[in-house]
Amino acid sequence: MAPDRVRITDVSPRDGLQNERGVIATRDKVRLVELLLGTGVDEIEVSSFVSSKWVPQLGDAAEVFGALAGILPRAEGGGASPLLSALVPNEKGLAGALEVNRAAGWRLVGKVSVFTAASETFSKRNTNATIAETLERFRPVVAGAHAEGLLVRGYVSCAIACPFEGATDPAAVVEVCQRLLDLGVDEIDLGDTIGAGTAESTRALLDAYSRRIPLAGGPAPTTLHLHDTFGRAAECVRAALGAGVRSFDASVAGLGGCPYAGTAERPAPGNIASERLVRTVHEAGFATGVDVGALERAAAFAREMVRAARAP
Ligand code: HMG
Ligand code: MG
Repeated sequence: MAPDRVRITDVSPRDGLQNERGVIATRDKVRLVELLLGTGVDEIEVSSFVSSKWVPQLGDAAEVFGALAGILPRAEGGGASPLLSALVPNEKGLAGALEVNRAAGWRLVGKVSVFTAASETFSKRNTNATIAETLERFRPVVAGAHAEGLLVRGYVSCAIACPFEGATDPAAVVEVCQRLLDLGVDEIDLGDTIGAGTAESTRALLDAYSRRIPLAGGPAPTTLHLHDTFGRAAECVRAALGAGVRSFDASVAGLGGCPYAGTAERPAPGNIASERLVRTVHEAGFATGVDVGALERAAAFAREMVRAARAP
């Protein structure tokens, strides 16, 4: 019997770079995406259409997509393969993503990701809105994206713990996920924003979650988005595979972190490295379409790009 297929999304051009302190040139971001295009990942989260005052590092989202439009073969009818996605916090963000597609003349951005949290403090710090306010903002975003044939991912940050409020009650996570599903999102993404998870807390979250929202055959697929602060993300991946999760996010070279999850003493941690994630998934007996060698070449480029940008 063929091994179960696990879906891999590389979020390095977005989560990996949003908190980077050096200035990364647009052409280097485009090159990173180009390298990722050849790895076999299922999806690349390319950038964010958010306020450039809040996240200056991704202020060139439209330029990055514009350059990709000139590189990728035009896909008639369908979208890009792998799927290209971007974060949007509100209608203005969706308008930015749709403008990219209009200018390209095809559905280059195939998915937009709205993002909220299971912690009120984090939600306020990250988007200047309560959880309820973020969900209201998403209503027209989901409808507008679907009207243009785009998929919508719904992120829930602080799924295990909040940097400001401590451990998160799984019931609070499930409640927010249910509300996102009620809005019509096509996918739920559970974010361990600060890498606090252990195998045990991951199992506890997924246990509470799957009692309300089926992991297989449910209304929408579920993705797990892990940060690797304490080197425990791989054990969380194994626990999640055991619980039935078949979709994960990661970032080449383990870059990443939310600018609004860090404090002066404790900067926001990076994502689990895509190389590590894919190896862990393969070792657990599952298949991905990913070429680990190609992923390592992209990781080497990403490391060098960040090192050069940080150099005085
Ligand atoms: P606000 O200041 O409350 O918004 O920010 P506003 O509506 O009052 O607008 C303020 C200004 O931003 C205005 O411009 C708007 O036009 C502009 P001004 O008149 O001052 O020149 N603006 C925008 N510009 C571009 N694109 C937009 C947009 N919206 C408004 N979409 C807002 C509210 C949501 C915009 C802001 O808080 C924001 O951009 N936050 C984004 C924060 C962010 O990107 N965080 C990181 C991603 S989340 C994450 O990393 C977690 C995740 O990885 C999962 C996990 O690990 O848990 C996904
Ligand atoms: Mg993240």
